Amino acid sequence: MKPASFAAAAAVFVAGASAAPLAAEAADLSISCGAVGAELALCEEGVRAWEAETGHSVTVVSTPNSTTERLALYQQLLAAGAKDIDVFQIDVIWPGILGAHFIDLSQYSDGAEDGHFPAIIANNTVDGALKAMPWYTDAGVLYYRRDLLEKHGRDVPETWEDLTETAKLVMDAERAAGDDDIWGFVFQGRAYEGLTCDALEWLHAYRGGTIVDGNGDITVNNPQAVRALDLAGSWVGEITPEGVLNYAEEEARGVFQSGNAVFMRNWPYAWSLANSDDSPIKGKVGVVALPKGGEEGQYTGTLGGWQLAVSRYSANPEIAADLVMYLTSYKEQKRRAIKASYNPTIAELYRDEEVLAAVPFFGDLYDTFTNAVARPSRVTGEKYNRVSSAFWNAAHNVLSGRSDAQSALAALEGELNGVKRRGW
Ligand code: GLC
Repeated sequence: MKPASFAAAAAVFVAGASAAPLAAEAADLSISCGAVGAELALCEEGVRAWEAETGHSVTVVSTPNSTTERLALYQQLLAAGAKDIDVFQIDVIWPGILGAHFIDLSQYSDGAEDGHFPAIIANNTVDGALKAMPWYTDAGVLYYRRDLLEKHGRDVPETWEDLTETAKLVMDAERAAGDDDIWGFVFQGRAYEGLTCDALEWLHAYRGGTIVDGNGDITVNNPQAVRALDLAGSWVGEITPEGVLNYAEEEARGVFQSGNAVFMRNWPYAWSLANSDDSPIKGKVGVVALPKGGEEGQYTGTLGGWQLAVSRYSANPEIAADLVMYLTSYKEQKRRAIKASYNPTIAELYRDEEVLAAVPFFGDLYDTFTNAVARPSRVTGEKYNRVSSAFWNAAHNVLSGRSDAQSALAALEGELNGVKRRGW
């Protein structure tokens, strides 16, 4: 059972009851899992398989969908040294912020990390300690309605300008034909971490940098970034519903999957759901890399993804580490890839025929996944969330029309200088 203090501290609920221990020495663990799309069910299945193999029992605790809310919850729990959660599902941007609360997993991994993408292992290593094992990786991709582009004789867009034009053309034609609900493009426009990911893609596509560069210099106030954000601001109310200002991943997917958008920016998980038997757009969807910013720009996608970490406050760190190693293993990553299009972090799985048959774009977009653009979380360390929130607020101001891109980015630069004052 969950101690009352946890229930009070966290607006979470117990998503699955533990099985009875099979052996006298069996441990009771708990793991926090995301619940976006099919995530919670997948986590449950993996956990139950490990329980059956080991005789231990695990309570699966579901956390808020928004990574920003999830971080606040975790910070609260970990700062209090709470023992309630043994295994934490952590975002790729958090090792610097939360790493001090996690054990070094290399003592239990038996070298398993060697099979994972080295860049993610490096990301998860803080001061030489492996703070988390990669569970799945992510990169932003562009979803499009193949049927609608064919019907209106349009190619898949190569640039954000093409996308803007095609979205408008198809949307107008479909509306003229009676589909009043259709929009051109949906994405994550709420003021939260998801908007940082989308807006970084716009900047990067125009070669407008990554907010803060690898040396820690604040580069966000530049003409290419202004161009990118100005274009994004022009979408709202034109090809994108005003409601986007409050969309996270699932709201965007809801609109796209019900057939009400021509294009969507989202993570790979949406592929499997868009093609599920009860999806109105099953079989009508294509996935490509996000467009370039003008002809001189570059294709892009923000690096996302989730890791599993063991809390320093766990009463059973070794057993918890065993659960982590099981869930991040080849076998379990393969199951998750095939069943729900979660990207493996093990390179070999991108050459697995069953995986490629289930999710063909894992092969086509391999370079997008391995060269995805990272948010500046490593260089800004513990201050990353302040950097990101300043950035997503600036982007949100532009999308909502409260500010033009030039003034928003100039103000952001000033704010980030303040955050940096005593260094990152
Ligand atoms: C996805 C990504 C994660 C990112 C989040 C933003 O979950 O995997 O890295 O921070 O979306 O909403």
